[in-house]
Parts: sequence; structure tokens; C-alpha cells
Amino acid sequence: MANFFPRWTNLLPLKIAVCLAALGTAVVAGFAYYATPKAQRVGYQPSQPIPYDHELHVNQLGLDCRYCHSFVEHSGHANVPTANVCWNCHQHVAKGSPKLAALRSAMGVNEDHQELTGEAGEGHPIEWVRVHRAPDYVYFDHSAHVNRGVSCVSCHGNVNHMRVVWHDKSHSMGFCLDCHRAPENHLRPLEEVYNLDYIAEDYLKENKILDKDGNRITTQLDFGMHLKEHWNIRPKESCTTCHR
Ligand code: HEC
Ligand code: HEC
Ligand code: HEC
Ligand code: HEC
Ligand code: HEC
Repeated sequence: MANFFPRWTNLLPLKIAVCLAALGTAVVAGFAYYATPKAQRVGYQPSQPIPYDHELHVNQLGLDCRYCHSFVEHSGHANVPTANVCWNCHQHVAKGSPKLAALRSAMGVNEDHQELTGEAGEGHPIEWVRVHRAPDYVYFDHSAHVNRGVSCVSCHGNVNHMRVVWHDKSHSMGFCLDCHRAPENHLRPLEEVYNLDYIAEDYLKENKILDKDGNRITTQLDFGMHLKEHWNIRPKESCTTCHR
């Protein structure tokens, strides 16, 4: 009698079992990564040693992010400014404001330093409380994003309107991967990266951008696709991109 099942099928149940187990693990792991949105982090809004206000300095006074976060386009790390940067203006403007006591202390204006710390002598840096921090096992690079048409707003929300900065986006692995899989939803012209109020549709009304067939582009999605192709943007999804 002919063997109805060929010989290789002997191993089939085992293979199926192994596959199911692997799939099961992947599903559980995937669920853990994507469905646990680290919700406690979103909305984190510590109070700061000086009530520094982005809405006032960026939106009303018109300062560019890079005036203070000067490393952001050159390095992986975005810096918070030193007291000197504030002092450029505040040695003249609102100099005596009680809100600026920690700044004066940092600049070595001694009465304030003594009042705040009870000691005489040199000032110490302003101790800003950090809001965003990736875990140590995650590799992240600011310049790789802002020089490729990804704006601060995609990852930090509308900081330009925040009187006190809060953690606006989850920064979970799923959050990163959502954009790495479909960056076209976010890409914008490089000169608009620091304009957090940019709206693609308005930009496209003022600037005539044509696709390869000569049709005018009118939506973020089509514009994003266009930029992605034009700049050859391919965010990686392999584990070693972000875990190295
Ligand atoms: C005049 C200086 C100045 C300018 C201009 C400025 N910032 Fe800031 N920024 C600060 C200071 C100081 C802090 C730290 C205190 C705080 O969190 O408010 C900060 C904090 C932040 C943080 C949170 C950092 C953390 O701890 O995780 C983000 C994000 C940020 N800024 C984004 C921006 C963006 C985006 C712009 C441009 C739209 C901008 N900033 C413009 C001074 C500035
Ligand atoms: C380009 C100039 C400029 C820079 C740089 C600047 N500021 Fe200001 N800041 C101003 C102006 C102008 C005002 C509004 C002053 C007023 O309302 O009288 C102001 C207001 C403030 C106030 C409110 C003062 C009060 O008494 O209401 C604080 C606090 C402050 N700034 C903190 C900072 C800090 C911290 C930095 C550095 C991270 C900084 N500023 C950098 C120009 C600047
Ligand atoms: C693709 C996402 C992304 C974009 C775009 C982005 N950031 Fe960040 N930012 C992060 C992450 C993630 C962290 C935490 C990094 C870490 O802990 O090493 C962070 C941290 C920061 C910090 C805190 C650094 C510190 O040492 O306290 C500042 C300030 C900041 N970003 C400013 C900016 C500014 C300004 C822009 C736009 C010019 C920007 N970021 C664009 C994701 C982003
Ligand atoms: C809004 C879109 C967006 C988000 C959110 C985003 N990325 Fe990216 N990422 C990109 C783009 C676009 C590139 C550039 C790809 C290219 O140059 O082809 C990139 C590149 C990178 C690179 C490669 C840098 C290099 O040296 O090659 C790393 C690492 C990275 N992202 C990590 C992260 C991490 C970690 C997060 C989450 C905290 C994140 N990204 C969130 C869009 C995003
Ligand atoms: C685009 C960047 C990016 C890529 C690609 C990426 N990860 Fe992650 N991963 C992250 C970030 C960001 C976190 C931190 C999430 C958090 O803090 O909530 C993380 C967290 C993790 C964790 C810890 C999970 C937890 O809940 O604490 C594991 C495990 C992990 N990643 C495995 C992987 C594996 C395996 C791959 C390849 C399939 C991968 N990652 C690809 C960005 C990335």
C-alpha cells in the first residue's frame, strides 16, 4: 500500500508545535511592547527651579529652538542651555525678578546664591529636572531625525505653546516603530522642522510642489511620500538600530 503521507511529514507535528510556540512568544512579547503604553510617563510635568516658559520665549519672543538647544542638529544629544544663554538677555531684562533667583545664583550673583543655598561663594548650575529620558539600552539620535525632515513636534508635541514642559508622547518602542514604518505621515521640508505650528496643507497652498506626473501635491501623505522618495528616507526597523 502506498504511503499516503510522504516521509517528511513525520516531523510535521513537531514543526507545527515549534512554530506555534514561537508565534505565541512573539504575540505575548509584541503585546507587551505595544499594548503597555507606559501611560504614567505621558503627562509627566515636573516643576522646574525657574518657571521658564516656552510659550513666552518661543511663541511670543520668536526665539528658535536652536538658540538654546544648540546641539540638537549636530549631535545625538539635545542639550538644555547653560545659564549664560539666559543671562545674555536677563542681565538686562527682568534682572531682579524673584523668578530668576536660581539664574542669578548660577551666575554667581552672591546675595541670591546665599539666600537659596545658605552658603557664600560661586554659583552652581541650574538644576533643571529632566522630562524625557530613554532607557539606557535604547540608542537615540536627534540629528539623525531633525536633519531628515522630522520635527520636534512629532516626538515632543507643541512645546512652543507649553508654559511648563510636559511629556506629551509615549516614546514607547511601538511609538518609534509606527513612524519608522510610515515616516511619510511626518516628513516636512527641512526649513520647517523648527516651526512647530507648520501645517502641510497650508504650506502646499503657498508653495507649488509637483509630483513626478506633474500633478500638484496637496496633502501631507502625498508630500511625505514625495520627500521620502526624493531624500531616499528609509528608517530601519532591525533591533540593532535602536539597541546596540
Ligand atoms: C530661551 C531658551 C529656550 C528656547 C528658545 C527653547 N527652549 Fe526648550 N528648554 C529650555 C530650558 C531651559 C528647558 C529646561 C526647563 C524646562 O523643561 O522647561 C527646556 C526644555 C525643553 C524640553 C524638555 C527637555 C527634557 O527635560 O526632556 C524640550 C522637549 C524642549 N525644551 C523643546 C524645545 C523646542 C521644540 C523649542 C523650539 C520650538 C525650544 N525648546 C526652545 C530652553 C529653551
Ligand atoms: C532673547 C532674550 C531672552 C532670552 C535668551 C531668555 N529670556 Fe527670559 N525673558 C525675556 C523677555 C523679553 C521676558 C519678558 C520680560 C517681561 O515680561 O518683563 C522674559 C521673561 C522671563 C521670565 C519671567 C520673568 C518674570 O518676572 O515674569 C523668566 C522666568 C525667564 N524669562 C526665564 C528665562 C530663562 C530661564 C532663560 C534661559 C533658558 C531665558 N529666560 C532666556 C527674554 C529672554
Ligand atoms: C524622533 C523623535 C524626536 C525628535 C524629532 C526630537 N526629539 Fe528630543 N528627545 C527625544 C527622545 C527619545 C529624548 C530622550 C533622549 C535620551 O534620553 O537620550 C529626547 C530628549 C530631548 C531633550 C532633553 C535632553 C536632556 O539632556 O535633558 C531635549 C532638550 C530635546 N529632546 C529637544 C528636542 C528639540 C529642540 C527637538 C527639535 C529640534 C527634538 N528634541 C526633536 C525624541 C525626539
Ligand atoms: C516621526 C517619525 C520618527 C519617530 C517618531 C522616530 N523616528 Fe527614528 N528615524 C526616523 C527617520 C525619518 C529616520 C532617518 C532615516 C533615514 O535617514 O533614512 C530615523 C532614523 C533613526 C535612527 C538611525 C540613526 C542612524 O544613526 O542611522 C535611529 C537609531 C532611530 N531613528 C531611533 C529612533 C528611536 C529610538 C525612536 C523612538 C524614541 C525613533 N527613532 C522615533 C523617523 C522617526
Ligand atoms: C526604532 C527603534 C527601535 C527598534 C527598531 C527596536 N526597538 Fe526595542 N525598544 C525601543 C524603545 C524606545 C524601547 C523603550 C520603550 C520604553 O521605554 O517604553 C524599547 C524596548 C525594548 C525592550 C524592553 C521592553 C520593555 O517593555 O521594557 C525589548 C525587549 C526590545 N525593545 C526588543 C527589541 C527587539 C527584539 C527588536 C527587533 C525586533 C527591537 N526592540 C527593535 C526602540 C526600538
